[in-house]
Amino acid sequence: MATSSKPQFCLFSPLLILLPILSSGSLSTVTGHGFSIEEATVHDIQLAFKQNQLTSRQLVEFYLKQIHRLNPILKGVIEVNPEALHLADKADSERKSKASGSLSGLHGIPILLKDNIATKDKLNTTAGSYALLGSVVPRDAGVVTKLRKAGAIIIGKASLSEWSQFRSFYVPNGWSGRGGQGKNRPICRTILDAVYVLDEIVGLDYNDKATIKASKYIPHGGYKQFLKVNGLKGKRLGIVRKPFYNFGNDIFLKKIFAQHLDTLRQEGAILVDNLEIANIDVILNIGTSEMTALKIEFKQALNKYLKELVASPVRTLADAIAFNKKFSDLVSVFT
Ligand SMILES: *[C@@H]1O[C@H](CO)[C@@H](O)[C@H](O)[C@H]1NC(C)=O
Repeated sequence: MATSSKPQFCLFSPLLILLPILSSGSLSTVTGHGFSIEEATVHDIQLAFKQNQLTSRQLVEFYLKQIHRLNPILKGVIEVNPEALHLADKADSERKSKASGSLSGLHGIPILLKDNIATKDKLNTTAGSYALLGSVVPRDAGVVTKLRKAGAIIIGKASLSEWSQFRSFYVPNGWSGRGGQGKNRPICRTILDAVYVLDEIVGLDYNDKATIKASKYIPHGGYKQFLKVNGLKGKRLGIVRKPFYNFGNDIFLKKIFAQHLDTLRQEGAILVDNLEIANIDVILNIGTSEMTALKIEFKQALNKYLKELVASPVRTLADAIAFNKKFSDLVSVFT
């Protein structure tokens, strides 16, 4: 927990997160067949399922262990889903009873969601804020409906993450709130994994009108068909150092960045380094205006969200601000 004093409704013990990158060898193999979860893509995992080398239960148990082991240090997972193992068993039995071609690429795969994605289940949805602890959402968010339909297992909520299958995420971010000093920002580990996810979540969401127009652009047969192992070959990539990749005196970041550029070159990309973009300041100013629009929409969207909740300690942005003032020692997400 980030704080020493907590209101009595404050959540649960600071038990969770995972970050397999840091895990020790002893947990890395669950099947005894030399299959390493940390290194496996979703594709590899599906193959292991198929060949009876791995079950969803084993996978979920592995991650739950990782969460319990690492979260006291990393403080990135706010809650684990008490139904995760049950969902894993369900996925395992479906895999036995259904034709393999009928199952989605995310079937039986554990997913960690960002805590501002509504789930109508035992998990709280709080956007990392104490102000929303105990709120009851009216329904699953559209993306969650799609994930459930795909048979993915929602294993928990992360304090500050993009939603992700969580084998591989992380970006420091000095946020604090009910997740503690959340430091994770899940993203997928490989492009292939990202596409597995994209293929399942892309599409119409009737509660989000913007998706109606957009959905006609979804390629028939999904996105996997466009993945190319040698896709970087011959691609010209401009590296705009100013103002994005100016690392100043940070030798470590410079070195890492240079290594990534080397990787791109080795894969056949042609890098145009130190690319200068005319009017970059103007372009970045558009970003500022976008932020202004975002802030204004935030108020409207948040008020709408709070109003639709079945139950909630706060009902308006004003309530949330008042809450923050009252419990300023908690630092909450709306500040
Ligand atoms: C959700 O929050 C309540 C407190 O309001 C807590 O008792 C419960 O354990 C939380 N749920 C999960 C799954 O952690």
